[in-house]
Amino acid sequence: MTHKPTAAVSIGNLGKVFTDIRNHRAKGFLTEVHTSIAEVAGRLRHVAMEHSDVSRISVRVLVGRNVDPALASKIQIPWKHGNLACEAVITVNQGVIGSLLYFGSNAVTRTTSSKTIAAEWALLGSLLIEKRSKKELPQDFALEILKKPSQSDIDQLIKIYKKAFTSYLTEFTPEVIRAMLAANIVAVVRDAEGRIAAVSQAEIARFTAAGEEWRLVELSETASHPDFRGQGLAYACKEKVIEQFRGSEKTIVYAEPRANLGAILMLNLDLGLTPVGRLDKHCLIDSSARDVPQEGKFGNLFVFYLSTQAS
Ligand SMILES: CC(C)(COP(=O)(O)OP(=O)(O)OC[C@H]1O[C@@H](n2cnc3c(N)ncnc32)[C@H](O)[C@@H]1OP(=O)(O)O)[C@@H](O)C(=O)NCCC(=O)NCCS
Repeated sequence: MTHKPTAAVSIGNLGKVFTDIRNHRAKGFLTEVHTSIAEVAGRLRHVAMEHSDVSRISVRVLVGRNVDPALASKIQIPWKHGNLACEAVITVNQGVIGSLLYFGSNAVTRTTSSKTIAAEWALLGSLLIEKRSKKELPQDFALEILKKPSQSDIDQLIKIYKKAFTSYLTEFTPEVIRAMLAANIVAVVRDAEGRIAAVSQAEIARFTAAGEEWRLVELSETASHPDFRGQGLAYACKEKVIEQFRGSEKTIVYAEPRANLGAILMLNLDLGLTPVGRLDKHCLIDSSARDVPQEGKFGNLFVFYLSTQAS
């Protein structure tokens, strides 16, 4: 099954595994809550068999609170010349959901060298030990949730995204931006002249899991204009977006930032997200802003999780 991109360009569609032609992958978020390791393995075996005509497969599965995620993460299912294996684990432990597990695999033609993988982990590791202080928004900048975008706002967002990314999992057309603005929570910072200088979004998808209503929230599409970087503008936008979900029940909030850019990893850490895994050559994404060279057109991502519950 092929899916048309929606406003939730990063989350994708829920409930099935779809072929995403632009990113040459099969991708899915399955909404059943699996109650045993055997059930997860059986489901993955089925998915692996059905989707072998792409160079990457990425499937997210939910398990109940009775399933040990450490054991479930050991499942390996043959796929092409390798194995569909666990890439990230989000421990949820709310309602009927125990954990969300990412399983993925790449064709041999779509893998990253061990040198680059090590450099990305080293970059993340170096940031985990840094001490940071919270930044205030500089004077003359204003933060808002963008509710009624003008045509000029849409044009400015396209400009920022095109400057920030040399490629992305979707194209930045007026239609795509308009759809994002209609469906997502979007925070922007404007400069003294009212021009948008930075942006961050939350994509929201709703699903029913074993009779419970849940929200899946991906913090995504964060970018700042190259002239305004390093001043805390992207931080302010992302913090504003996150505020909307703090204290929420039955809400899974996560981010999948580029693994080769210190600034975005730092931002996620500063905002209290925890790294829980890595997705190899997950999708089309690249930028001239990078700290580790990228191998080819598909970018590596880390997975971060934000607990919305008060600790
Ligand atoms: C990532 C991006 C949005 C950051 O924007 P920004 O406005 O400069 O971000 P901020 O100033 O709010 O915060 C960046 C943080 O990273 C830190 N940082 C910057 N470069 C860094 C580096 N190479 N390594 C580690 N940390 C770095 C900054 O010091 C700052 O942290 P601090 O506030 O604790 O000092 C911007 O670089 C961008 O648009 N990049 C291209 C698009 C992109 O890749 N977006 C992310 C997609 S997943």
